[in-house]
Amino acid sequence: MQDNRVIIFDTTLRDGEQSPGASLSVEEKVTIAHQLARLGVDVIEAGFPISSEAQFEATKRIADEVEGPVIAGLARAVREDIDRAWEALKGAERPRIHTFIATSDIHIRSKFSSDKYGRTMEEKKERILEMAVEAVRHAKKYTPDVEFSPEDAGRSDPDYLCRVVEAVIEVGATTVNIPDTTGYTTPEEFGGLIRTLFQRVLNIGKAVISVHCHNDLGLAVANSLAAVREGARQVECTVNGLGERAGNAALEEIVMALKVRQDIFGVDTAINTREIYRTSRLVAHLTGIEVQPNKAIVGANAFAHEAGVHQDGVLKERATYEIMRPEDIGLEKSRIVLGRHSGRHGFRARLEELGYRLSEEELKRAYERFKELADKKKEIYDEDLAAIVEGELFRVPQTFALEYLHTSSGTGAIPTATVRVRKGDEVVQEAAWGDGPVDAAYKAIKRATGMEKVRLSNYAIRSVTSGTEALGEVTVRLEAEGRTVMGRGTSTDVIEASALAFLDGLNKLVALPGEGLRGEV
Ligand code: KIV
Ligand code: ZN
Repeated sequence: MQDNRVIIFDTTLRDGEQSPGASLSVEEKVTIAHQLARLGVDVIEAGFPISSEAQFEATKRIADEVEGPVIAGLARAVREDIDRAWEALKGAERPRIHTFIATSDIHIRSKFSSDKYGRTMEEKKERILEMAVEAVRHAKKYTPDVEFSPEDAGRSDPDYLCRVVEAVIEVGATTVNIPDTTGYTTPEEFGGLIRTLFQRVLNIGKAVISVHCHNDLGLAVANSLAAVREGARQVECTVNGLGERAGNAALEEIVMALKVRQDIFGVDTAINTREIYRTSRLVAHLTGIEVQPNKAIVGANAFAHEAGVHQDGVLKERATYEIMRPEDIGLEKSRIVLGRHSGRHGFRARLEELGYRLSEEELKRAYERFKELADKKKEIYDEDLAAIVEGELFRVPQTFALEYLHTSSGTGAIPTATVRVRKGDEVVQEAAWGDGPVDAAYKAIKRATGMEKVRLSNYAIRSVTSGTEALGEVTVRLEAEGRTVMGRGTSTDVIEASALAFLDGLNKLVALPGEGLRGEV
């Protein structure tokens, strides 16, 4: 690897999925992984295989199917985890085992309190160093590509950290990742830590030094960039900055900062930046976690110029107020792509250009949905196609289907809803009143399906394209018996979209196996 290339290690599917409220099905993870490969990330961390059956399955599917990037799986520094990670990863072209153990006093005190790790802090630290070395040795039996992370490195004693890093490189760790697990450090401090490692770890040249920064103080990207200045050549990051608590360093911000400020950093990545926007939308859509409008690079306002003087300036010379072009991240003006007379062939061709791979059956259903939409809406944009296709791709068996919905509401009127829901051969009709037509519809659906214990913990609505006849997309988060699912529905009628999203969530609760232990570390 050239010294001026920064490896982009994407952990959207592992750390990103630990975002509160995010929960992706195996199928959705595989789709995101294909898009990450298209984006050109070097490494995809596909999951934490021992943490649940679903995590194992997703890591395995991605390892078996996704070509191009290295596929990594996370494992604590214990044999059982490493063996399970390997089981999931072994089908990959280029598998990587990523093993970790905590090295800060505060983590050691709480996670390794048992005397079996030693009685004093000094004894515990020696044992942890041994465990790190044993874990890397064990992982090396399976694959030459082994990454080691001293968790909470940002708050670890630098002398001890240097010893651990040197010891794991000695036994063959090819990447050593330095996490700022709690997002506690500042750029100067974190850059200084990386400098110290380069100065004091004698064998450091034998491994790639990586960084993994959390965003608790809003410094994840700044800390990662400071580390790159000091010689780190892998950055761990997530699309839209998803991740535990306040998230991880945002991939799109890291990549565009390195590109736009090449003059300062002097390094490149292999990312095809024109795929950034599409990847961001896909991840927002599937996780149900929307991007804030003023988010750098991918927010709705990132390239919008409001003040007259700015608009005027940009029209005369873009560089007056724009440091990068929307096209650089693949943001193009919405194009009308298809209409009611478009044939199946044109429909399929455009979907392929957009990167969707559908089976014949999925294509057939998506085309039917497209024709229905084209009857209601004259012009169909790429965003409409994405909403249709993603609805079809991630359909679970339709235990419940909406047959009829009628709502009535108005100023001074009591909002009411009547629904008819099909469950196999049975059709159930129910009515309810509520705080508004959506609330009334949800109450009626709960009664009709018998799923009265389900709790709606989030409801979001957005317009897919502009104009009054635009498709409305509703995303709901439903909780039942400790499980959380996302439901999505689209329609030109927002009440219908709301009902469809609710039923989609209910169908997922019925169809998807429980996640069990989430991938928390
Ligand atoms: O934040 C962290 O320390 C992690 C490690 C497992 C790399 O996610
Ligand atoms: Zn993390």
